[in-house]
Amino acid sequence: MTAETRKATDALIRPAIRDAVAQLGEELTEDSLREHIWPLFSRVLNRPNHPKLDRPEIYLANHSLGRPLDCTADDVMGALDLWYRDIDAAWGPWIEARDKFRALVAALLGVERADCIVPKTSAGQGLRAVLNALLKPDRPITIVATRGEFDSIDFILKMYADKGWAAVHWVEASDDQEGIPIYWSREITAAIKQHKADLLVVSGAFFSTGQVFDGILWKIAKEAKEAGALVLADLYHTVGIVPPVLDQGNPWVDFAIGGSYKYTHGGPGACWLYINPRHLDHENEPGALRTLDTGWFAKKDTFNYERTDTPLLAPGGDAWLESTPPILPIYQAMAGLELTVALQAGIGVRTRQYSLEQQAFMRDTFRAAGVPMFKPDPPAMFGAFSLLPHNNAAALSDALRTEGVNTDARGNCVRFGPDILNSREELELTAQITARVMKSI
Ligand SMILES: Cc1ncc(COP(=O)(O)O)c(C=O)c1O
Repeated sequence: MTAETRKATDALIRPAIRDAVAQLGEELTEDSLREHIWPLFSRVLNRPNHPKLDRPEIYLANHSLGRPLDCTADDVMGALDLWYRDIDAAWGPWIEARDKFRALVAALLGVERADCIVPKTSAGQGLRAVLNALLKPDRPITIVATRGEFDSIDFILKMYADKGWAAVHWVEASDDQEGIPIYWSREITAAIKQHKADLLVVSGAFFSTGQVFDGILWKIAKEAKEAGALVLADLYHTVGIVPPVLDQGNPWVDFAIGGSYKYTHGGPGACWLYINPRHLDHENEPGALRTLDTGWFAKKDTFNYERTDTPLLAPGGDAWLESTPPILPIYQAMAGLELTVALQAGIGVRTRQYSLEQQAFMRDTFRAAGVPMFKPDPPAMFGAFSLLPHNNAAALSDALRTEGVNTDARGNCVRFGPDILNSREELELTAQITARVMKSI
């Protein structure tokens, strides 16, 4: 990212967040986060006590639904205030907010051009926009995807296959570590070549295990490109956790999808599709990638209301916009994006470093309490949550919830996702509670 873009991005961050982050220093510590960042989350950190306990719930499902900043409520109210006060003149600032959202997501991905980011209401909607650009009149789209993709993505691909619009080849996990499925590049690139895939759909980090593909993803994407396949990376479990990844540094990924409701503290409905700039700026030329997921905001000169006989698209990434956009989710996501960008700015590794150290502390604490958490090797190959394998993981997670510890379960593992708002004391208490609860499950 150029110094100029970095400066422009910094200017998007409100002073309250910028100043709080500026106090933190190069390395994050629990004490500095507690002093400077926790006050930004006072509402959610001061929840009432758990009904059966003399303390609030310990929230460790940050990998599922992140926690909101206090000013998120004011932001959403501010968007509504504009409407009450200015009625249709609210569209000006609303669209500015949408463009700020695009610029902040671009900054998180390390992408220069904000118009590469197209707001969507779900990651799945981003996938469908890509599939609907690749539909072929004479044959199904040939897709390679892994068995580890998130349910929504898996389901959409199966629906396209069911309709005969896609032929999906599923790659199984290659390996396992202590029973946790692991994917490697070998099988994926082999499948791309074997099936002459048009598109690879693969996660940057797998939702059920947290395995981070990172470097491997770029290797796969490069090989996929050489084999003639486009690549769509699902970065939902990467963005906000693993430092910026796309664009000049890794130019091979064609599309990426993700959203705000996990690590960027933005709630549901504020998602995005990234389109590599090499697919932009040819929108009205023959052979250009053009999606069926369109609408009047994708038109050239939307507000000239001109109706050409054939569709003429807006320039750049705006050609991938759709109909009248939702506005409130954009406001709801803004403060969390600003905070995440500010925390990652310049030294994007520090949030990752903090997360890895915090998880190592948690796993050690669990082990000391006699609870054998999965020991990832190397730990940096895994994302923002740690796994506790258990043959009745869902029941264990439910039992923990009744004891005031909020986790979730996927497959044969309970996922524990601490974040910058969790204390070591909470993690130590969680280890004790888990050890006790496990005896009865
Ligand atoms: C890897 C991954 N992709 C996508 C999603 C969400 O998909 P959608 O927005 O289509 O529901 C999730 C949600 O947990 C996820 O973990």
